[in-house]
Amino acid sequence: MASSFHKGFIRAPDIILVTLYVLTCITATQESTPAANLPEPCYNYTVLDDPWRAASSQPSNPSYMSDWSVTWSGWYRLFINGLSAQIPDTCVERYRCGTDIPLWIHGEHPRVQDGVVTRDVCGHAANYCCFFGSFPIKVKACPGNYYVYELLRPTVSRSAYCAVHPSVDPCYNYTVLDDPWRANSSQPSNPSYKCDQYVIWSGWYRLFINGVSAHIPDTCVERYSCGTRYPLWIHGEHPRVQDGVVTRDVCGHAANYCCFFGSFPIKVKACPGSYYVYELVRPTPGYAAYCGGINITLPEECTKQLTQECLQNLLEQMENITAQELPVTTVTNILNLVFNTLEKIVESSSLSNKTELASYGNRLLEANEKLISTLVKPTNTSDNVSFTLAAVGAEVFMVGPVVTLEKIPRLDTTNSSMDIDLIGIAKNNNETRSANVGFMSFNTMENLLKSDFFNTPNNTIKTMMSTVISATLPKTTNTKLTKPVNFTFRHIREFDPNGSLSCVYWNISEWIVDGCSVLKTNSSFTVCSCVHLSTFALIMQTSRPPESDSLLELMNLVCVIVGLVFFTLALMTFALCQWSPGVNNVARINICISLLLAHLLFLLTQRFLSLIRPQQVLCAVIAGLLHFLFLSGFVWMFIEAVLLFICVKNLSQISSKKRAELRNGFLCVIGYVVALVVVGVSVGLVPDGYGSEHCWIKMDKGFIWSFLAPVCIILALNMILFICIIISLNSSLTKLNAEVSQLKKNKIMVFKTLAQFVVLGCPWILGFFTNGNKVLEILFLILNSQQGTFIFLIYCVLNHEVRQQYRRFFRCLCCAKQH
Ligand SMILES: *[C@@H]1O[C@H](CO)[C@@H](O)[C@H](O)[C@H]1NC(C)=O
Ligand SMILES: *[C@@H]1O[C@H](CO)[C@@H](O)[C@H](O)[C@H]1NC(C)=O
Ligand SMILES: *[C@@H]1O[C@H](CO)[C@@H](O)[C@H](O)[C@H]1NC(C)=O
Ligand SMILES: *[C@@H]1O[C@H](CO)[C@@H](O)[C@H](O)[C@H]1NC(C)=O
Ligand SMILES: *[C@@H]1O[C@H](CO)[C@@H](O)[C@H](O)[C@H]1NC(C)=O
Ligand SMILES: *[C@@H]1O[C@H](CO)[C@@H](O)[C@H](O)[C@H]1NC(C)=O
Ligand SMILES: *[C@@H]1O[C@H](CO)[C@@H](O)[C@H](O)[C@H]1NC(C)=O
Ligand SMILES: *[C@@H]1O[C@H](CO)[C@@H](O)[C@H](O)[C@H]1NC(C)=O
Ligand SMILES: *[C@@H]1O[C@H](CO)[C@@H](O)[C@H](O)[C@H]1NC(C)=O
Ligand SMILES: *[C@@H]1O[C@H](CO)[C@@H](O)[C@H](O)[C@H]1NC(C)=O
Ligand SMILES: *[C@@H]1O[C@H](CO)[C@@H](O)[C@H](O)[C@H]1NC(C)=O
Ligand SMILES: *[C@@H]1O[C@H](CO)[C@@H](O)[C@H](O)[C@H]1NC(C)=O
Repeated sequence: MASSFHKGFIRAPDIILVTLYVLTCITATQESTPAANLPEPCYNYTVLDDPWRAASSQPSNPSYMSDWSVTWSGWYRLFINGLSAQIPDTCVERYRCGTDIPLWIHGEHPRVQDGVVTRDVCGHAANYCCFFGSFPIKVKACPGNYYVYELLRPTVSRSAYCAVHPSVDPCYNYTVLDDPWRANSSQPSNPSYKCDQYVIWSGWYRLFINGVSAHIPDTCVERYSCGTRYPLWIHGEHPRVQDGVVTRDVCGHAANYCCFFGSFPIKVKACPGSYYVYELVRPTPGYAAYCGGINITLPEECTKQLTQECLQNLLEQMENITAQELPVTTVTNILNLVFNTLEKIVESSSLSNKTELASYGNRLLEANEKLISTLVKPTNTSDNVSFTLAAVGAEVFMVGPVVTLEKIPRLDTTNSSMDIDLIGIAKNNNETRSANVGFMSFNTMENLLKSDFFNTPNNTIKTMMSTVISATLPKTTNTKLTKPVNFTFRHIREFDPNGSLSCVYWNISEWIVDGCSVLKTNSSFTVCSCVHLSTFALIMQTSRPPESDSLLELMNLVCVIVGLVFFTLALMTFALCQWSPGVNNVARINICISLLLAHLLFLLTQRFLSLIRPQQVLCAVIAGLLHFLFLSGFVWMFIEAVLLFICVKNLSQISSKKRAELRNGFLCVIGYVVALVVVGVSVGLVPDGYGSEHCWIKMDKGFIWSFLAPVCIILALNMILFICIIISLNSSLTKLNAEVSQLKKNKIMVFKTLAQFVVLGCPWILGFFTNGNKVLEILFLILNSQQGTFIFLIYCVLNHEVRQQYRRFFRCLCCAKQH
């Protein structure tokens, strides 16, 4: 046990098991007394007929049976549903026999003449068939083909003795059928057609192909495959373990009909351990043979907990496949299983060691290469096979000696394609005059072959810009390239125009550039040219952003909070103070509301970015909301300028209160609806434009102009308005017939609004040009965050009336305190 600790295989549940074991050992040793050896156990035994002991019964956790709590005494004979059974003498899968740790006996069953023998008991746990030893038990073979056992209390809880039918359960009594030709998907020539009609079939069979467990396909197989003329397959799905024995019709594919020949139905049973047994019978047509399909399967324990060992096991199974040709469905089944498993293991993030990642990647690539080569079929002219799965897309193209094509078409998978001069390569093969190319594109391979494996002298951020692709020349003798191969990669991520692209290939443990170059590139595609074949990808390097200055960040936080406080103060002042008649604060209030909400939302989003970022919808909604709020701030700024313009134009005209209210309602509609319309149109035009890395508008595809364009237009209009206002103010000054005090007031108002315009609008203009300039960035940060402070200063602190009201307010506060 100690040594298994050192092997490092033990997981938490196993440690609990070990603890249980130690505890139960202590109690068990106190009461283990050898039972008396009765003279005739074959005729004086207790019947143990628990259907759950059957090796096929799979319990769920809460109902694990335990023989630990049973008081055992004397001899027992096992039955399953009334049929004589025995304790298995080979390893039993874990979580079988109604329990967690199934018990089986180590060593063969005796013959009758052997009398009573002693056998060790093993408990299967933690991937070891005999993780727990238990007290040995006595076994006796009885005349009449049954066994009796002197059972003892096991040493661990949650364990139970298993039972199997010795001859009834075909899962344990089958004939092995291992004919490699049953997997052959090539077309055999007439004299070598295999024929299952001459075989004397009897009982149950389990299929293997070169030692790898196989099954009879349950979908149509190609004609002339499986080494025979009429390949046989079964009609109807394979059963599950709990379905027991089922009957399936057998079909023979001939004359373009998948089920041209019916044959006698056969019995099929799914066995624990993910394999099937078949009660095969003599087929009706001659030149017919049962097909063997290979399906790699996850080991049983991996359905409960997926570990790296599961992936290793799958890879080993793939490596063990020796079939030279396989049907496409088999290949896709295998790839689906392997990549699904890989994805789940990557998700559970138990893979992090770089050495391990690279080594898994290499094994996977190699196994895939071999697998894809099984799709190559000899051809005289040209042929192709392709498939697209969630994780992999592949195309195989074959050309033969009498190919009629000038050049082969571009090999295409969803996000990458390849141009290769296969005809030229075929011509270079003197003997066969044929060549084959396999092209695969892996969508999830970057989880193993990470872009970080690209080592460059510059400390840059490396981003995988394409799917990882793999190109090989399987079953081709002379693989020398006649022309460089060209790969067209579709960018799978946003392309940063400042980044530099490298076409790289995978070399054992790293991505390297040798022999590959970028031919041409635009924002969504890149063409790479390489002088050899291997595994390729496109990696973008971008310079690391300057280390996020914690001082700058703190300053930002403080500034934004100060700004927010002054926004709130200004809002309260606008709302609560008495203002002289004729002062219309509605635009100012709304500017404050919009910008206050925008800054608050921005602050919160940046604080909790790590939580919000994974929720893409939320992130996009926040970006849209920010867009809306900032825009309506600008629209209100424009409205304010318009109001001022109207006011200056008609100095005498002071609108009545009612009209003002009406107008305010109308303004609110304009102020917010314009921004809403812009956001709506933007969403309509570019649905995925919102939600960048910082939950703001995405900068690529020019979507940022949905913000910049309205802002620029408003700033330009405002500029024009102000020029008009100043001109008209000047002219009324020269006329001198206007009311002087009103004029003075207006003049102040104009300068305040102008100041506000400069303060609110200019930071954004500055923002467009910061581009990494530290000083400008800090300036932008201060100006942008202090908008609230400026508004408060301009309208509240610098306003005589308001100042007086503040003074009164504070005096009141002090009075209240004194009383
Ligand atoms: C059968 O075995 C039990 C103990 O296991 C014993 O008490 C009983 O006497 C035996 N019966 C016969 C008929 O031997
Ligand atoms: C296996 O089953 C056959 C009948 O199908 C039976 O004759 C044979 O005895 C069984 N083998 C064992 C080891 O029980
Ligand atoms: C498959 O068939 C081809 C041609 O008939 C033959 O050369 C090859 O050896 C066969 N493979 C197996 C595994 O039987
Ligand atoms: C692969 O083949 C080897 C040698 O034949 C065998 O020991 C091993 O168990 C096989 N692995 C799997 C997963 O079947
Ligand atoms: C083969 O494997 C695939 C994927 O693992 C599975 O969907 C399919 O049912 C399997 N076929 C058989 C006959 O086991
Ligand atoms: C990664 O795994 C390898 C062997 O699998 C080991 O030698 C190496 O120390 C591990 N590295 C780290 C950082 O764990
Ligand atoms: C290719 O052509 C040769 C000679 O014409 C012929 O014997 C052979 O059957 C053809 N092979 C295939 C796969 O069509
Ligand atoms: C691939 O083969 C199919 C027929 O099997 C043909 O229709 C298709 O055009 C071929 N594709 C290419 C790219 O040659
Ligand atoms: C790949 O592109 C290069 C340069 O444009 C060209 O010379 C070569 O022929 C192309 N290769 C193929 C297979 O088209
Ligand atoms: C292929 O043919 C060329 C010229 O005909 C010859 O030089 C070369 O040795 C041949 N290669 C092989 C492998 O036969
Ligand atoms: C890497 O550094 C070299 C020289 O130090 C420079 O010429 C090159 O442009 C840099 N590449 C990137 C992507 O920054
Ligand atoms: C191909 O790329 C697009 C984005 O460019 C992505 O949405 C899609 O999932 C990719 N397809 C595959 C099969 O990777």
